[in-house]
Amino acid sequence: MKHILITGGAGFIGSHVVRLFVNRYPHYHIYNLDALTYAGNLENLKDIEHRDNYTFIRGDIKDKAFVDALFKTHHFDGVIHLAAESHVDRSIEDPLIFVKTNILGTIHLLEAFKALWMGSFQGKRFYHISTDEVYGSLGSTGLFIETTAYDPNSPYSASKASSDHFVRAYGETYELPYVLSNCSNNYGPNQFPEKLIPLFINNIINNKPLPVYGDGNYTRDWLYVIDHAKAIDVVFHNGENKETYNIGGCNEWKNIELVRLLCKQMDVKLGRPDGTSEKLITFVKDRPGHDLRYAIDATKIKNELGWEPSVTFEEGLSETIDWYLNNDLWLSHVTSGSYQDYYKKQYN
Ligand code: NAD
Ligand code: DAU
Repeated sequence: MKHILITGGAGFIGSHVVRLFVNRYPHYHIYNLDALTYAGNLENLKDIEHRDNYTFIRGDIKDKAFVDALFKTHHFDGVIHLAAESHVDRSIEDPLIFVKTNILGTIHLLEAFKALWMGSFQGKRFYHISTDEVYGSLGSTGLFIETTAYDPNSPYSASKASSDHFVRAYGETYELPYVLSNCSNNYGPNQFPEKLIPLFINNIINNKPLPVYGDGNYTRDWLYVIDHAKAIDVVFHNGENKETYNIGGCNEWKNIELVRLLCKQMDVKLGRPDGTSEKLITFVKDRPGHDLRYAIDATKIKNELGWEPSVTFEEGLSETIDWYLNNDLWLSHVTSGSYQDYYKKQYN
């Protein structure tokens, strides 16, 4: 049995990756290491929490001694590293925690993995999950390819870029066997409602304003989270050592157009007259350093590993809305308490 560590497995993308691996690989033991910050939620994994090949460990990747001890105990053959502070707006408020978790936390994992396997890396793999934001902003044309120069603009993307560089450096310096992927914006069930799509779904349900930053003419490339989890599976198992793979939805939307589509679908699902939700759109102060456009060229992963998105945006968005409407308890749990404080600070 292989021992696989997935970090950040109680978060949005991590929980979908944990579920996929626990179900698909009964001969792996999956260890989910998560600190359960505001973004981590064990309710995301209720359906698999009692499975024999699954163990949850509450712990913090910022704590080097803890990470070292954990690797010594469990001898992880593979690591899929998703744990991170992931919200750009929070990074603007408090960059330091992004440095500690995203950079130092990643180095702690690399160090522990190196200490365990240095000299006998055969069959081992460290997979670092990164973001397209490290490439900075595109103008109105062009796509990010794997060799696009890094040019991060937010404390979040700068911290992710730095952690990517450390992963590569461990590969070059110590021959640590790594793969890396840089993905575009994910959406789908279980996303914490501070990010655009779940925030706006929740606000529409509650008839609250929809705060569109600036003029709304910012473009993102959206990918359904389960398609990302499948891409992670493919890269972990079949990706070439020391290679990077860009993962994207081939699905660009200007924020304002996406919000209008969301409003239309929500009106139908909530049985409200067409146009009701659109009236909630409110243009607010722009995000500082707001990247204009992200778009991924996913040709490499398609040609070399045979992965491509399987869910259309209309289907994925509809399934996402249905999930939030059917999981009002989940939504009310995560939006109580500290969520309210964050919301007041960010939007007042
Ligand atoms: P998320 O914020 O929903 O989840 C992050 C998880 O990490 C949470 O469960 C949290 O409790 C955990 N965590 C945070 N700090 C920790 C620490 N110090 N120790 C242990 N666990 C800790 O994030 P997400 O959206 O699921 O993103 C997961 C990864 O994918 C991140 O590395 C992110 O940079 C990357 N990514 C996200 C997107 C996206 O659109 N969401 C796109 C591309 C890449
Ligand atoms: O591109 C991948 C990245 O996508 C990931 O690395 C990040 O972890 C993830 O959070 C996401 O970053 P974004 O900043 O693109 O996502 P967010 O949902 O915060 O914002 C999407 C767009 O919507 C962005 O242009 C800002 C805008 N926006 C966002 C919020 C929260 C608004 O207009 N209003 C809002 O209230």
